[in-house]
Amino acid sequence: MATRSRTRHLLRLADLRASELEQVLDLAARMKERPYGWLHALEGDIVVSLFDKPSTRTRISFATAASRLGMEDQVIRPDELQLGRGETIADTARTLSSYAAAVTVRTFAHSTVEELAAAATIPVVNALTDEHHPCQALADLLTIRELYGSLDGIKLAFVGDGNNVVNSLVEAAGLTGLELTVATPAGYEPALSGDVAVVRDPRLAVAGADVVYTDVWTSMGEESEAAERERVLAPYQVTEELMSLAARRASFMHCLPAHRGSEVQAEVIDGPQSVVWRQAANRMPTEQALLYALITGDWEG
Ligand code: CP
Ligand code: NVA
Repeated sequence: MATRSRTRHLLRLADLRASELEQVLDLAARMKERPYGWLHALEGDIVVSLFDKPSTRTRISFATAASRLGMEDQVIRPDELQLGRGETIADTARTLSSYAAAVTVRTFAHSTVEELAAAATIPVVNALTDEHHPCQALADLLTIRELYGSLDGIKLAFVGDGNNVVNSLVEAAGLTGLELTVATPAGYEPALSGDVAVVRDPRLAVAGADVVYTDVWTSMGEESEAAERERVLAPYQVTEELMSLAARRASFMHCLPAHRGSEVQAEVIDGPQSVVWRQAANRMPTEQALLYALITGDWEG
């Protein structure tokens, strides 16, 4: 079995070097072909999953990924930890580090995962914060690579709210040859600038795009703004008409969960250009590869 090395975390996609990102995607592709080939790699270890927000894909894909590495996934509700009774995040991290091999965390403030990682001696994986969703981006990149054979020069248009998913796509573009354009209303731009062109007009973003991507208009924790968001973001719905402006065989992506009739028309997400189920399925091998690489320090598997 591979030897343990210094602690690495994935709090945001840019925590990976470009070469490591490529290695994780390569390993994920191999794990996808042979999902049970690493069944004994981390036998006897556990992953602790701390989820402050709901999850369908991330929770279950991590549980499956852990199981296919021979690990158990110990899911803890926030109210089960002493954290809720005033124990510090740092003390929680130190304690978990003496039992588990990794921690996955879905929470609100990004600073929470940073604080955990600062005190942990095991990998901390961001399973979504208000600012980043790096594990989603890993699955998205694997999906695009499978569809187009490469990420280089692929035109990705994101239309809608410039949220956590978009921030991770901005970092993905910075680490790869993806060309990202984001169309958002004023005030809804992604927090990150850099390898991204931000425009107002969704038609401009989508023109000639290979991939059109959207996400919910109201992310978890923003529910009080839902009515205003539906109003402001209405012109950003991904419709069949908008898709017709993209490249002829463009793909439609969505990290899910989706709201048909809000950010996307049912005809698009349920239509022939949609690759959302492939995206969702790719959460598993990318997380299997990520957990393996972070825990063992072996990026080649
Ligand atoms: N895409 C995604 O992270 O889905 P869940 O919220 O169901 O985990
Ligand atoms: N932006 C969404 C992603 C859900 C997977 C949210 O944060 O709720």
